Amino acid sequence: MRRPIIAGNWKMNMTREEAENLILDLIPKVVDAECDVVICPPACFLETAGRLIKKTNIRLGCQNVHWADKGAFTGEISAAMLKSLNVEYAIIGHSERRQYFGETDELVNSKVIKALQNGITPIICVGESLDQRRAGETDEWVRSQVRGALKGLSAFEVQSLVIAYEPIWAIGTGVTATSEQAGETIGVIRTAVKELFDEFTADKIRIQYGGSMNPGNAKELMSMPGIDGGLIGGASLKADDFAAVVLYSK
Ligand code: PGA
Repeated sequence: MRRPIIAGNWKMNMTREEAENLILDLIPKVVDAECDVVICPPACFLETAGRLIKKTNIRLGCQNVHWADKGAFTGEISAAMLKSLNVEYAIIGHSERRQYFGETDELVNSKVIKALQNGITPIICVGESLDQRRAGETDEWVRSQVRGALKGLSAFEVQSLVIAYEPIWAIGTGVTATSEQAGETIGVIRTAVKELFDEFTADKIRIQYGGSMNPGNAKELMSMPGIDGGLIGGASLKADDFAAVVLYSK
């Protein structure tokens, strides 16, 4: 059985004080979670967040990682630096990074490799645009993103990581994919992993849904057999909402 994983992607939100308050508010609300709970604050708050969630069931994730070990990359943050802050997960290849920062599948792949080398679990984001869905290109598109992101990895490495299926048209729009749409495309992703590696690997890898997931739709989405959790944007910025998603089965 795959353990569900619910991760909050705060994106570029919160001041330090707001971040601290959100975390302190969240801690008691999610103690009874039956899934892995991850928060991904902005990089400048990782140390504070890590300190506050120490000895709780909340794990620390980041929103990006650089592909090089170290060096002359002004403004960037390496996997080793993140690891030294006890970061356990890294969101890689979010559609906003692909759209605004030109991240390609090749770049995503090199970031995934660097995260794994440093003992950080990648949460790899894939997903189609509305035009691609309307044109019937979704399956081939996400398959190619999965192929690109997992290039050169061993089956063992792939078994440990997380993929987030995030249809771009559902991110921050309030429009959620139906549980059928989400379940179907997640099935396509799992089959792609099986074809690239093997059935055991496809059974082990956790695949989340992301895109306007909230307390009102989490239970239905999570009831789909192939959906192993959620990557939550907007709803992760309010302790009550994020906790309600985390406790979807209660
Ligand atoms: P959303 O964002 O929940 O605000 O749609 C999800 C994401 O981008 O990870």
